[in-house]
Amino acid sequence: MIKHRSVAVALVLLQLLAVVQGQPFPNYHANFVDLEEQAAELKWWQTGAFYQIYPRSFKDSNGDGVGDLNGISERLSYLKELGITATWLSPIFTSPMADFGYDIANFTEIASIFGTMADFENLMKVAKQLNIKIILDFVPNHSSDECEWFKRSAAGDPEFKDFYVWHPGRMVNGTRHPPSNWISVFRGSAWQWHEGRQEYYLHQFVQKQPDLNYRNPKVREAMNNVLRFWLGKGVSGFRIDAVPHVFEMAPDSQNQYRDEPRNDWDNDPEDYGYLQHIYTVDQPETIDLVYSWRAVLDEFQRKNGGEERILMAETYSPIDIVMQYYGNATAEGAQLPFNFLLISELTNSSNAGEYASTVKKWLKHMTKGRTANWVLGNHDKPRVGSRLGRDRIDMLNILIATLPGASVTYQGEELGMTDVWISWKDTVDPSACNTNPSIYEQFSRDPERTPFQWSDATDAGFSNASKTWLPIGEDYRQINVNLEETQPLSHLNVYKQLWKLRKQAKTMQRGDTDVKALSGAVLGVKRYLKNDVTFVTVLNIYDGVATVNLQQSFSDLPAQLQVVLVTERSKVKVGDLINSTSVQLQPKDSLVLQSTSSYFAYATNGEIRHLPVLGIYLWLAQVALYLTHR
Ligand code: GLC
Repeated sequence: MIKHRSVAVALVLLQLLAVVQGQPFPNYHANFVDLEEQAAELKWWQTGAFYQIYPRSFKDSNGDGVGDLNGISERLSYLKELGITATWLSPIFTSPMADFGYDIANFTEIASIFGTMADFENLMKVAKQLNIKIILDFVPNHSSDECEWFKRSAAGDPEFKDFYVWHPGRMVNGTRHPPSNWISVFRGSAWQWHEGRQEYYLHQFVQKQPDLNYRNPKVREAMNNVLRFWLGKGVSGFRIDAVPHVFEMAPDSQNQYRDEPRNDWDNDPEDYGYLQHIYTVDQPETIDLVYSWRAVLDEFQRKNGGEERILMAETYSPIDIVMQYYGNATAEGAQLPFNFLLISELTNSSNAGEYASTVKKWLKHMTKGRTANWVLGNHDKPRVGSRLGRDRIDMLNILIATLPGASVTYQGEELGMTDVWISWKDTVDPSACNTNPSIYEQFSRDPERTPFQWSDATDAGFSNASKTWLPIGEDYRQINVNLEETQPLSHLNVYKQLWKLRKQAKTMQRGDTDVKALSGAVLGVKRYLKNDVTFVTVLNIYDGVATVNLQQSFSDLPAQLQVVLVTERSKVKVGDLINSTSVQLQPKDSLVLQSTSSYFAYATNGEIRHLPVLGIYLWLAQVALYLTHR
């Protein structure tokens, strides 16, 4: 009797201690699984929150109106607060800035406008302290024409002679013409005559970006060494720029290139869309080249240890080709070929069915074992709020954080920054400057590149220069970090709560996914993991109030769900219990709900905590044991 009693008392005390000492959800688990141990199975990037920094526009530390590395180091803790895993920096290397750093003159040197190598090393140190990984931009397709390699190639130096794609041109009736009709992405012929070498060189982008020749093994080795150099500096991987362009067809036995066929829908012979790019993009060799870069990363890891280094590949190619970049049965490729479907397939008027099929398209095409990723924006595309609606910004941030795999946020989109109108006079993007005042807006990428809005101070707290390199968005007094930090349901705070939830919830990291249009207006995403909490995210895409029955659309849902995340549009509050047969959503409202069936939820210190119901039964059983044996 005494023995029973003391065992029971000890058990009750232990249970009570566990409740008092308990951590917020999800450390209480019905099956007492060690979460830390399970989490170790996932690699760091597989559920990563990636954040793209466009260094010119993030933070200017020296007052020249252009962002820099010290500015990034100074503000990296902001990314930590957001819950970011890794940040990809657009190019920071020596460059004449004809394409704002995507024209590199020295691949292993820091551009002075951004700082010095010591500043970069300091950034790496700060990043390490904060446990934020640094990903660099790797621009393989071209260098700057001011690169030493190009100068030596143009001069016929035997070592560099074939580093670029050179051709004497076609002679027609005694007149010299470019070797083919190929058009540059930034307008006009892709061939430029070089007086010194008396040959044309290929440039798929601006004239100052000559294409490297990947049929030359020396070029491959030189670029592999670029990867090795930065890996040696401690970076965690690379975003590979303009992947589909890296190879073009090899010249035929007569050393001729073929003309590309026309697109009937485009009547502007200077415009990139005028031709079908069957010889200049998506050549099969490109896939193997990406695999060879992955091999460089893996080799580095074998020799030096540490966590896996990753490749993120920029390609807007057809989905079957994009999928090949992941790797195949015998070779690994990019861990994350960017998923641009949310950019390329959704419009302001897309309905829930179109959202669902866009999301499912990636998941259906991806082979088992690969990791999905979701990109909402970047420095080349109109901002998400301008593309899909300002009032859908939270909704889209919630969507990408709810879907499985990694996600990529472009700087400022966590705040709800939108495109800024830039006059022709202030336009600097070569893609627009190569056009004319009447059509430049269709081509300009300046609107999404304006300085980051930190506060309502001068230059939005980005700089103290009298003029910043691009104008500041007019809405900076309403849309800025300082202000949004004080508003509980600002875009910024919704974003922070999202990633907090996502980090804590194992289901969000590794659960199964079911995506459905619950009506024409409402998209639902269910995340499910055995023996764990189920989450349902509901997004009302349109302007009417909508009511949906989740039990009808999703299997195995409890009668009640608890609200875990709301936006400023929601009428319900975090912690509310709602019937899963009748969930009401306000116009453009988004909610994240969770099952509560196996948990007893209670609030303490403003946080919702969860005690497994199983735990309560155990506790009651022990009380009963105590009472009956007393
Ligand atoms: C990529 C970059 C873009 C750049 C182009 C040429 O698409 O994202 O900004 O202009 O490549 O390097």
